[in-house]
Amino acid sequence: MFGTQEINGDGILEIGGVSVKKLKGEYGTPLYVMDKNYIVEKAELIKKSFKSKVFKTDVAYASKAFLTVGMCKIVEELDLCLDVVSGGEIYTALKAHFPMEKAHFHGNSKSIEELNMAVEYGIGTIIVDNHLEFKLLEDICEKKQKKINAILRVNPGIDAHTHEYIQTSKFDSKFGESIFMEETKELIRRINRSEWVKFEGIHAHIGSQIFDINSFLKEAEVMTNYIKELVEEGIGIETLNLGGGYGIYYSEGDEPIDLELCLKEQVSIIEKINEKYNLGIKKLQIEPGRSLVANAGTTLYTIQGLKTTYSGKNYYFIDGGMTDNIRPALYQAAYNGTIGNRCLEEKENSVTVAGKCCESGDLIIKDAKLQKAELGDILCVFGTGAYNYSMASNYNKIPRPAVVIVENGESALMVRRESYEDLVRNDV
Ligand SMILES: Cc1ncc(COP(=O)(O)O)c(C=O)c1O
Repeated sequence: MFGTQEINGDGILEIGGVSVKKLKGEYGTPLYVMDKNYIVEKAELIKKSFKSKVFKTDVAYASKAFLTVGMCKIVEELDLCLDVVSGGEIYTALKAHFPMEKAHFHGNSKSIEELNMAVEYGIGTIIVDNHLEFKLLEDICEKKQKKINAILRVNPGIDAHTHEYIQTSKFDSKFGESIFMEETKELIRRINRSEWVKFEGIHAHIGSQIFDINSFLKEAEVMTNYIKELVEEGIGIETLNLGGGYGIYYSEGDEPIDLELCLKEQVSIIEKINEKYNLGIKKLQIEPGRSLVANAGTTLYTIQGLKTTYSGKNYYFIDGGMTDNIRPALYQAAYNGTIGNRCLEEKENSVTVAGKCCESGDLIIKDAKLQKAELGDILCVFGTGAYNYSMASNYNKIPRPAVVIVENGESALMVRRESYEDLVRNDV
């Protein structure tokens, strides 16, 4: 159980003081439920732990994890910066009147339209991915006679132990320019000389759902030593951005890192190297996504089928699946859940929870213990606040679920449920 989740006297799960039975009654299922208190407390912990007496520190929320107009407003309330990676994410931030100077624009394949949009709306920092993108950006800035801040994404070649699909810093990664190539330094010199692009520093992101604290400490060390090489050449580096990737608990076997310790240690390593070589770094940044919102989210489903196969396998069938949570099918992510209206009953059944899509891989929970269920029961799947709604699809023409936020006994709609009409809105 995470955040404000509690079991009431009737054995019903409550989140933010609202029972899942009430949420199902009011909004229907499948339903993403976000616990506001969890997000606020986690953000405060991250900000408090990522502090330095030497550097200014920024925490930028990686909005790809979960982005809605309402979430942008929470990010602003929490005084965080916002990472965006597409025109659509920029547009969402604009719709929320998010202060664009606190937005950072990422991506390895930004279009000319997206770069134009970023420059036009005064995005605070562009995280430049490569040579060609820098050239495009410089031309756009010159044409518009507008300057912009930029950080170069580099690849420090750190082999973080996580699923292959979410490793981002192996030598053959598509992201950033390698610190082991002389051309990268040449690019840095070019950005540093630019009249239109103000060079601020360097960025790395080594992967996602990483449990080994040493990967993050190694990254801090390697990146600061790379800054030393640049400073020795006379290139000033104001900002070092270390990305996100802090691993969290989803299910048995996950051993999340001590985030507080990890952040403090990262800062301490950089402070030491900065002081030893007088590097003049001014600002440190991180970009947590999953660690801020994953455990704030619970998805509610209705059980609408039960089956035991010839081989004895027990299935619970739900009214959602891979369209609202692609992670198990995409990278074998494991989830944990409960029957939200039977929390006081023993979890005695070994069950696989299957979604409604025409794919055998549409399984949300595999061979886990759950309470005996009946049709109409509410299955609650935990840890679905990150990379669920943001990765949702309309496969099999299934409408995306609604999103609600709960806090202190109240619930409010964040995103309306899609209708069948929404599904054909753009068909001509
Ligand atoms: C550049 C960058 N920063 C931050 C993140 C957030 O990572 P996480 O959600 O694991 O914290 C990602 C995710 O892939 C990313 O690509």
